[in-house]
Amino acid sequence: MTIHKTRIAVFCSGVGSNFQAIFHALKKKQLNAEIVLCLSNRAQCSAMEFARFNAIATVHLTEKQFDSFDEFAEAMVGCLKEQQIEIIVLAGYMRKVPDAVVEAFKDRIINIHPALLPKFGGEGMYGIHVHTAVLDAGETESGATVHLVNEEYDKGRILMQRHVPVLPDDTPERLAARVLACEHTLYPDALEKLLAEQLS
Ligand code: GRF
Repeated sequence: MTIHKTRIAVFCSGVGSNFQAIFHALKKKQLNAEIVLCLSNRAQCSAMEFARFNAIATVHLTEKQFDSFDEFAEAMVGCLKEQQIEIIVLAGYMRKVPDAVVEAFKDRIINIHPALLPKFGGEGMYGIHVHTAVLDAGETESGATVHLVNEEYDKGRILMQRHVPVLPDDTPERLAARVLACEHTLYPDALEKLLAEQLS
């Protein structure tokens, strides 16, 4: 008897280090899930290369390929349905997920944010801006948050958080590296939690 594995799509725009961490963790933890699709707004990026190298299907999808945003959103939903995707993992996807996709995959899309939400989230809070804001605010700790995605930036239910210290001589770049290393264990753990929640 073949056991059904939950079919995951990752959405990426760049390096894809979280994608890689999840890919390896799914195997190591022997979770009953697999990444079957990498969707990106960029045809060429490290994440897409990693997917191709590991024989994971890739799709390059941007608004520019369509006459309207609605058509773009419809195509995205269609592609995800065609691939029988059950969970979407945003891993450095630098675009807002269309509302039509959020509706079609309600409570089945997760994102990782490089700070302790609800602080330092929302529009414009991405990449190095987040870590600069954390240092400017004089915080003594930061971390990462995995949350469900709804129609508002960084506002969905928090699934899991992990803290890292802010050190006295931190620069935004040093803090970013510490948070990213933390993300690589947090994201697979949070995904495991989501999979368990969906079974219960
Ligand atoms: C991470 O810092 C994550 O928190 C944010 O985008 C970055 C993605 O990095 N959402 P990578 O592409 O996974 O290396």
